[in-house]
Amino acid sequence: MSEDQDMGALIGRLQRAKNVIALTGSGISAESGIPTFRGKEGLWKTYRAQDLATPQAFARDPELVWEWYDWRRGLMSPKLPNAGHQVLAAWEEAIPQFALITQNIDGLHRRAGSRNVLELHGNIWRLRCTQEGTVVENHESPLSPLPPLCADCGALLRPHVVWFGESLDPDIIGQAFSLSARCDLMFVVGTSAVVHPAASLPLAALEAGAAVVEINPEPTPLTQHAAFSFRGKAGDILPRIDRALREISRVRERD
Ligand code: OAD
Repeated sequence: MSEDQDMGALIGRLQRAKNVIALTGSGISAESGIPTFRGKEGLWKTYRAQDLATPQAFARDPELVWEWYDWRRGLMSPKLPNAGHQVLAAWEEAIPQFALITQNIDGLHRRAGSRNVLELHGNIWRLRCTQEGTVVENHESPLSPLPPLCADCGALLRPHVVWFGESLDPDIIGQAFSLSARCDLMFVVGTSAVVHPAASLPLAALEAGAAVVEINPEPTPLTQHAAFSFRGKAGDILPRIDRALREISRVRERD
C-alpha cells in the first residue's frame, strides 16, 4: 500500500472509530529536546537504572538520586511541547471518546493543553512525602534544599515517579487497561514498546480487535502487529494525519 492509500485508509478508520487511544513514550518529547531512554544517546546508555531509579538506590543514597532528578528537571524545565503533543491535545477536543495514556513524566502533554492524561509512570514535577504519601506540585529548578523535605512533617520527599521494581498506581493502570480493551483504534507513538505493563496495553487493544497505528522512526516488537506503521517522527506524522482528518471533515461539511 502506498503511504497515500495508507493515510486514506487510516482516516476512514479514525472517522468510524468510537474509542480512540494514544499511548505515548519518550520519543514524542525527543523533538522538544528531551532525551529518550534507549536510543543512541538514550539516558540508559550513560546511566545505570539500578543506581538511580530504584527504591534501593534511593534508600542507599537519596542525595545522589535527587541530584539526578534535579538535573533532569533542569533539562526539561525550559522545553516546550512540540507539534506532536499539540495534535494530541487538539484531538481531545475534536475526537469523541479520546484517551491519552503516557509513559512520560515530563508533563509536556499537560503543557500542550491535554487535560485528561493517564500518567502511568508519574510526573517529575510532583514530589511525594516518604512518610505520609502526600503529593505536592513543585516546579522549582534547581530544587532547594536538596534533597527536599516535606513542609508538614519534615520527612524526605521523593520524586512522584515509578521506579524499577515498583508497581504502577493500580487505579491508573487499571483505567488504562479497561480503556485499551474497549478501544477500536490505538496510536502508539514514540515508545520502544518493551517496558511492561505499558507495553501490554497495545496487546490488550489488539486482543479486543482494535487496530494499532505505530508512529516511530524505528521498528519495535509491536510493528509486526500494527495495521498502520508510519516510520517517521511524531512531530511530522501526527500533524500530517491531523491535516488529512481536517481536510476530509471540511469536504464532508461542504458537500
Ligand atoms: P525508549 O527510549 O525505550 O524508546 C523511545 C522510542 O522513541 C524509540 O523506539 C525511538 O525509536 C522512538 N523515537 C525517537 N525519536 C522519535 C520521534 N521524534 N518521534 C517518534 N518516535 C521517536 O522510551 P520509552 O519507550 O518511553 O520508565 O521507555 C519506556 C520506559 O522505559 C520509560 O517510561 C522509562 C524507561 O525506563 C521508567 O522510568 C519507569
